[in-house]
Amino acid sequence: MQDDTKEWNPGRADFWVQFYDDEDGHLREKEQQHKKSRELAEGGSLMDHYEWFMEYPLYEKKLLAFLPQVPTARTTEKPMRWLHVGCGNSDFCDQVEGLLSDQLSVSASPPAEVLNVDICENIITHLARRFPWRLYAVGNCCDLHVTARSASLSQERPAGEEPWFVLDNTLHVQMVRQSAVDVVFDKGTADALLSAFAGEFNPNMEAYVGEMLKVLRPGGAMFVISINSEEVVNPYFLSAQDGDKSFQLVFTDVVELGAGGLRHLRVETLGSRYSCYGYTVVLPAD
Ligand SMILES: C[S@@+](CC[C@H](N)C(=O)[O-])C[C@H]1O[C@@H](n2cnc3c(N)ncnc32)[C@H](O)[C@@H]1O
Repeated sequence: MQDDTKEWNPGRADFWVQFYDDEDGHLREKEQQHKKSRELAEGGSLMDHYEWFMEYPLYEKKLLAFLPQVPTARTTEKPMRWLHVGCGNSDFCDQVEGLLSDQLSVSASPPAEVLNVDICENIITHLARRFPWRLYAVGNCCDLHVTARSASLSQERPAGEEPWFVLDNTLHVQMVRQSAVDVVFDKGTADALLSAFAGEFNPNMEAYVGEMLKVLRPGGAMFVISINSEEVVNPYFLSAQDGDKSFQLVFTDVVELGAGGLRHLRVETLGSRYSCYGYTVVLPAD
């Protein structure tokens, strides 16, 4: 991951380390400033839960409209593998089971495994202790150590039976298997990367999109919620290539926030209009 030397911005890892700092980071400061508010008192610490842009109910319908177009979402026998990339302390992972079993009739049990990955060790360590039933990992989405299956492993056991990621004992990503993920979910992570190198080609965004294409299987998909326009985001996706795999834009929609959504203390809103982009992973014959 390259630093934009011109300024300190959300495209840099140290920005986020400060943001989540348990002593005097942005979330702790916000908590202090609003400690008397009923919303914070009832909802618990911002360190445990904080959302960028909006809470889940505001974008649920968009995901529901997109997922039936994803070929791997129609396979119901095995748990779907989801990567929530740049997860921060969003609770999106807790929504996936309901989304798949109630709304899309995925019958596998559990319907999904959601791996939450973020570059910030401080927030991941905190959340892994606080929510031991969730899957958390420290990793850089621009380099997830993606590894292809070895020929000997392919002969030994079917692809579904091998681990699709390996972590060390401090939760750092050691490996994510190539073409093993069904869905990547991104709310605000591409935007963080795009904050650097303003108006220029962004090497981190290029590396990120390339890495997501590597981990996704053909027929898999990536759902992105972003403040950036299609003109900014799309060129990175449409130029990515991993062997024969490429991304195809199949879904766009917009979420407009009302006054209530904009005032929510547990949410960081940067404006009232957000785009949803849905990409599927295709092979040349598709
Ligand atoms: C705008 S926040 C979004 C957090 C969460 N997805 C949400 O919706 O609330 C961006 C997140 O991306 C993480 N991030 C930034 N650069 C990253 C990178 N290179 N690899 C992994 N995570 C990164 C930050 O630490 C931060 O948690």
